[in-house]
Amino acid sequence: MLQTTRLRLRALEPSDLNATYLGWLNDPEVNRYLETRFLPQTMEALHNYWQAHRDDPASPWFAICLAADARHIGNIKLGPIHWQHRRADLSLFIGDRRCWGQGFASEAIARVRDWAFAELDLHKLSAGIYAGNLGSRRAFEKCGFELEGTLRHEVVCSGERLDIWRLGLPRILWTPAP
Ligand SMILES: CC(C)(COP(=O)(O)OP(=O)(O)OC[C@H]1O[C@@H](n2cnc3c(N)ncnc32)[C@H](O)[C@@H]1OP(=O)(O)O)[C@@H](O)C(=O)NCCC(=O)NCCS
Repeated sequence: MLQTTRLRLRALEPSDLNATYLGWLNDPEVNRYLETRFLPQTMEALHNYWQAHRDDPASPWFAICLAADARHIGNIKLGPIHWQHRRADLSLFIGDRRCWGQGFASEAIARVRDWAFAELDLHKLSAGIYAGNLGSRRAFEKCGFELEGTLRHEVVCSGERLDIWRLGLPRILWTPAP
């Protein structure tokens, strides 16, 4: 369990695999920039994914929950971790759209960043963001990530080819919280 002022990041539990979660994955506004939109999202698929990833040490995966009422609002994943290079990608979604724009993504990213550097001894974190996903880019930038490159015409999104922004944060540029 990782904590912040307003959030609790904890392991996903079977009770999280419910209609609300399924609704997020099938919400076109939430999944617009997520790879999951290419897969049929059913309760069975959700359970299979959870079974396959629940204890995967190479991809720690957290439910993002509000500290105030324990409500599950999204997920954040660190991985895959490349232990030889001590680096990993970080990805997330806030599925409950009522919670967008309140700083929850930035708060969750900052906490997992600190854990990855301080506890897991990783030396580099990265994120791949669909060009145009300004909210995601800004959330990572607020946590110290910087644009390192653009993969041109890398993905298809709503029938268009889009670039991928690669943002990164080397540990040497990270300032641990006091
Ligand atoms: C992208 C996402 C994670 C942002 O979550 P969030 O909790 O709303 O982000 P935050 O509140 O921490 O916002 C971070 C910054 O981005 C800004 N921001 C948020 N959404 C924005 C948008 N659509 N356009 C421009 N800026 C935006 C915020 O104002 C804030 O900047 P500020 O503090 O300078 O004002 C969330 O919208 C989401 O889950 N979207 C769907 C899935 C997704 O795209 N995941 C990311 C895949 S890489």
